[in-house]
Amino acid sequence: MTNIVILTGAGISAESGLGTFRDKNGLWTKYDLNEVATPEGFARNPDLVHDFYNARRANCQNAQPNAAHSALARLQAQHWGRVTIITQNVDDLHERGGATDVIHMHGRLSGALCAACDHRWAAPAAMSPTDLCPACNKPVSRPDIVWFGEMPYHMDEIYKHLSDADLFVAIGTSGNVYPAAGFVADARASGAKTLELNLEPSATAGIFDDAHFGPATIIVPQWVSELVDAS
Ligand code: APR
Repeated sequence: MTNIVILTGAGISAESGLGTFRDKNGLWTKYDLNEVATPEGFARNPDLVHDFYNARRANCQNAQPNAAHSALARLQAQHWGRVTIITQNVDDLHERGGATDVIHMHGRLSGALCAACDHRWAAPAAMSPTDLCPACNKPVSRPDIVWFGEMPYHMDEIYKHLSDADLFVAIGTSGNVYPAAGFVADARASGAKTLELNLEPSATAGIFDDAHFGPATIIVPQWVSELVDAS
């Protein structure tokens, strides 16, 4: 397995205390995603949207990477081929767990983005609708997060990695949000083997060649050990 491409979702950070979206008690059972995760919601009520992401930024800063994040960093360091991590997560737990070159397709909580001029800068702990863009001085600062209806980041680079993949692994994602949910089919079409590591079967479970189910902190280190020790 030369090129391993890994897609992660909220499930890998669940045991670090960060909530998932669609599980029982998930974020989308408590908040209306149309109000806090769309450009239209932001235009209607920027205070509400900033409050939502400020709370998530604080949770993220208080969370620690878990054994699954560290195991993927170990795989990146010890696998003889290339290991690419694509995450839908906006936290920084992969990086704090030791991973490098993580592709954040849905943006990051640590970033601020000017809705007027697209300038990016490091987000303060608490953002507010009156924050001025350091480049154009307009008060339309938003979190650098990809909302529903917006194009995820780095898609050309991601499709290149998928077409070069020998093994595609999805970890802790429910397979409900496209384009990420379609990556397994894209990688398969390019000849990759596919593996799902998740608490329970995802919406796209039927497409994978193989699967292990259980908490990420158990099944991800197990899988990494098998792979690294076998090489
Ligand atoms: N270990 C492994 N998997 C887990 C764990 C755990 N401890 N806990 C939950 N899971 C699994 C669930 O079974 C589910 O399949 O993680 C998945 C979480 O699914 P979602 O909440 O839908 O999260 P995700 O797939 O990352 O969501 C995709 O939706 O709202 C958007 O932009 C947001 O990036 C997010 C996207």
